Amino acid sequence: MKVGGMHHRSIWRDEDSGEVRIIDQRRLPHEFKVMTLSSLEDFEVAIRDMLVRGAPLIGATAAFGVAEAMERDPSDANFEHCRAVLNATRPTAVNLAWALERCRTALMPLPPEERAGAARDLAREVSEEDVEINRRIGENGLELIREIAAGKPADEPVRLLTHCNAGWLATVDWGTATSPMYHAHDAGIPIHVWVDETRPRNQGALTSWELGEHGIPHTYVVDSAGGHLMQHGLVDLVITGTDRTTARGDVCNKIGTYLKALAAHDNDVPFYVALPSPTIDWTLGDGVAEIPIENRPAREITHVLGLTEDGIGDVQVTPGGTPGGNPAFDVTPNRLVTGLITERGVCDASASGLAGLFPEKVA
Ligand code: MRU
Repeated sequence: MKVGGMHHRSIWRDEDSGEVRIIDQRRLPHEFKVMTLSSLEDFEVAIRDMLVRGAPLIGATAAFGVAEAMERDPSDANFEHCRAVLNATRPTAVNLAWALERCRTALMPLPPEERAGAARDLAREVSEEDVEINRRIGENGLELIREIAAGKPADEPVRLLTHCNAGWLATVDWGTATSPMYHAHDAGIPIHVWVDETRPRNQGALTSWELGEHGIPHTYVVDSAGGHLMQHGLVDLVITGTDRTTARGDVCNKIGTYLKALAAHDNDVPFYVALPSPTIDWTLGDGVAEIPIENRPAREITHVLGLTEDGIGDVQVTPGGTPGGNPAFDVTPNRLVTGLITERGVCDASASGLAGLFPEKVA
C-alpha cells in the first residue's frame, strides 16, 4: 500500500542486491526506516523484538529467513537449527509454524545443492500468496460494507471499528482487516474507522498511519472507548484480524479483542474477523484452552514508547518497581463472532462453516 503516495510492501527482496528488506515497525509512525536482514540472528531479532509483526508477516519473514540460512549452509542440520530458532521467537501466531513446516516439506526432500534456490522461490511464493489472499479477503469484506452502506443515506459513512494493526504492515500487502476498508474506500463507499489504540504497543498508531496514508477518515480512540461507541450506535461493523483461529472458529487476536466482541454482542453490532487460511490451526478446537498465549516483557506496560523531545524513546508511566503483567493475546469464543471473512468467502465461525469453505483441510 502507499507511503507518501508510493507503493510499498512490508518485506521484499531488493532486486539489485538480493538483500531482504523490512520496515522497522518499532520506529513507526514517527520514522520510516528500512532495514536489511542478513543473518539468522537478524531474522530472529526482527520477529522477536517486533521490528516485523502481525501473523502473516511473521510467517513470510520466517520463509525469507530460511532462504537466507539455506544460502549459507543447506544441510539438514542447519535447516533444523534455523527452524528451531525462528519457531521459538513468538508462540501465538500460527503462521510462523505454518511457514516453517511448509519450508521443511518443500526443501528437505531436495538434494542440499538445490535448497537455496528452492527456498528463495518459496519465500517469494509465500509472499505473493499472502498478497492475493488479502486482496480476496478485501473483495469479500467489501460486500459486507456495501450491504451496510445500502441501508444508509448516501452521504453517511459506514462506521467501522478495528483493534490492533491487521493492516498491510501486519501482512505483506493489503492487510486482512483493513483490506475491506481499502477496497470500500477505493470503490467510493464513504467509511470512517474507529482505531483502537491497542495498549501496550499501540499498534493502533500503525493503523492510523496506514489509513492516513491512504486518505481514509479515521479516529484514534483508547481501548476502553469501544463499548461506549457501540452503545451510542456509532459503530456499524467491527472487523479485526487474527493470529490463530481454531477449526471450530475460536479466534485468538491481540489482547482486548475479546472485550470488543463482548461489547459488540451486547449491542447487536456485527463482529467479523478477517481470516487468511494460513492462520487457521486445524489441529485445535477449544481456543481458550489450547492456544498458547505469549507473555511479553513487563516493560512494555510500565513504559510507553513514543516521540519525545529527544527523538523516539521510552517514558515511564508507573511508579518505579511496579510489577507489570503483559499477556499479549486473548481468545474470542466462536459464539461471539458473527462471521469469518476468508479468501474463499464469508462463513460462520463454526466447524461446519470453515469445513464448508475448506473441505480439503477437514478430509
Ligand atoms: O503482537 P502483534 O502486533 O504481532 O499482533 C498482531 C495482531 O494481533 C494482529 O491483529 C494479527 O496478527 C492479525 S494481522 C493481519
